[in-house]
Amino acid sequence: MKKMITIHSFKGGTGKTQLSVNIATILAKKGKKVALFDLDLRAPTLHEVFNPKKVKCYINDVLSGNIEINDCMIDVSEKIGEKNKLYVCFANSSTEAIREMISRKRKWEIEALKKLLIIRKKLLEEMNFDYIIIDTSPGIIYLSINAVVAADLPILVTTLDESDVNGTNKIVRDLYKVFEKKPMIIVNKVLNTSEEKMKLLDELRKESEIIGILPCFCEIGIMKRSSIFVIEKPQHQFTKMLEDIVNKII
Ligand SMILES: Nc1ncnc2c1ncn2[C@@H]1O[C@H](COP(=O)(O)OP(=O)(O)OP(=O)(O)O)[C@@H](O)[C@H]1O
Ligand SMILES: [Mg+2]
Repeated sequence: MKKMITIHSFKGGTGKTQLSVNIATILAKKGKKVALFDLDLRAPTLHEVFNPKKVKCYINDVLSGNIEINDCMIDVSEKIGEKNKLYVCFANSSTEAIREMISRKRKWEIEALKKLLIIRKKLLEEMNFDYIIIDTSPGIIYLSINAVVAADLPILVTTLDESDVNGTNKIVRDLYKVFEKKPMIIVNKVLNTSEEKMKLLDELRKESEIIGILPCFCEIGIMKRSSIFVIEKPQHQFTKMLEDIVNKII
């Protein structure tokens, strides 16, 4: 089934961008048509992964109502050895654009939610996309919550750091439930399976379904931003585990 998937987290640095890029890549490699969005307008990253030569317009322009989404999707399929399968809508990483984003008023945010719902409809129903993957800013940022509200499936990424787990459960209870959203959880960067960490996993399971538990692999952290892990290392355990997660998502 066609889906818009928002990848969110309570804390920063949990692996949202890494997972968004690799999940989108696995789906595209499976023959699905995928749109990947950089909705982390405060700290855009996807341009560092895909190094697009020419970007005519950004998601910022679409959300502000200046431009149509069709014009902002860049075909990056070549990078993953495919044709017409993976498209990215980048965010404007200029200092002015980030400043402008931070000073947005509530009215803009409400309009942005409407725009996200229009984008969903257009891509999934008119442009034949199978999946939209949205990489967001961490925490209770208005735009990230909008992307959660607009999603068919929100995914929360957390580590097994105690404050991360508590914060994740808190936003599930205080925010996701209010919007009647049931997130799936990916636990990432797991360093050990001590009794204490297992208890934290049980805490997460009280509120949500966990669809994957991924260890911390040093080779991921040291890899260049511009490389896509599942392409570079198709036989690696992390790739296999992500493929299992994707099968659950599908
Ligand atoms: N399983 C893992 N093992 C080791 N390193 C990882 C793992 N997952 C992600 N990382 C690394 O952790 C760092 C942070 O990941 P990433 O940028 O994807 O997080 P993020 O949640 O998008 O951060 P932000 O909240 O700042 O947007 C990166 O260097 C990434 O390569
Ligand atoms: Mg990120």
